[in-house]
Amino acid sequence: MPKASSARRRTEPRTKARLLWQARYRKALRVQSPLLKVRDLHKSFGGVKTLTNVSFDLDRGQVLGLIGPNGAGKTTVFNIISGIYTADRGEVFLEEHAITNKSPSFIARRGVSRTFQVARTFNDMTVDENLRVGLVRGRLTRQKTNARIAEILELTRLGSRHADTVAVLPDGQKKLLEVARAIVIEPKVLILDEPFAGVGADVIDLMISIIHDLASRGVGCLAISHDIASMPRLSSDVLVLVDGQVMTRGTIDAIRNDARVVDAYLGA
Ligand SMILES: Nc1ncnc2c1ncn2[C@@H]1O[C@H](COP(=O)(O)OP(=O)(O)OP(=O)(O)O)[C@@H](O)[C@H]1O
Ligand SMILES: [Mg+2]
Repeated sequence: MPKASSARRRTEPRTKARLLWQARYRKALRVQSPLLKVRDLHKSFGGVKTLTNVSFDLDRGQVLGLIGPNGAGKTTVFNIISGIYTADRGEVFLEEHAITNKSPSFIARRGVSRTFQVARTFNDMTVDENLRVGLVRGRLTRQKTNARIAEILELTRLGSRHADTVAVLPDGQKKLLEVARAIVIEPKVLILDEPFAGVGADVIDLMISIIHDLASRGVGCLAISHDIASMPRLSSDVLVLVDGQVMTRGTIDAIRNDARVVDAYLGA
């Protein structure tokens, strides 16, 4: 007996120290590694190749613009990241954890939130109810839920419309509500599918400032946009997808001066 207990006394501190060191090492690895890693995605529909070899990284606090012609595969990339489509090949990692081909609810719970090209708000519910639905599954107290919703309503300037039915909102505010619904759950990664389509210049400016606010808090943001005029204000870092492949990634100035991008997209 005495032998065993003295042995335990000798090994326990070492085991503890080792476990602590391993946990710190894993945390350091997570912090140093990209927030979102997309590797070698392939996807075909009915034998027609839609994505080939799509890879890119998104860091914490980074805003990345995604551009490319209609049908290039931009939404398909988002659908794979968010679990709506399965990839034929390739991997998606969130903080080094593979989330490839997991369910949309699993991926959302892990911290990836998205908006849709066509807003998916609940039109017969109020703005407030739309936000509450997103938090139903969370473990927030009623007080914290209310505080979180109030914060998001202020950020998206929808406070004065909180009791209005979504159906009566102008398109710009519907799009803002779509963003509000995506961020109310405090995502690590926010992916936005054409948030600026069909909205006025003032809403675009507000959305850009919301995206930068989130990025300043460490959220990684990936946004598809065809609005090249606002791209420099959104991000200086742009990924170009053409025919399901990454053509290039660079600053908006470099992209504008890239003859291949002009030929395939900007010059069209
Ligand atoms: N569920 C599906 N079934 C069959 N084909 C699909 C499906 N989803 C996407 N595609 C095809 O994949 C290609 C890429 O579509 P995707 O929606 O990803 O393009 P996009 O770059 O988002 O275009 P846009 O700028 O017009 O939104 C298109 O040819 C599209 O028809
Ligand atoms: Mg699309």
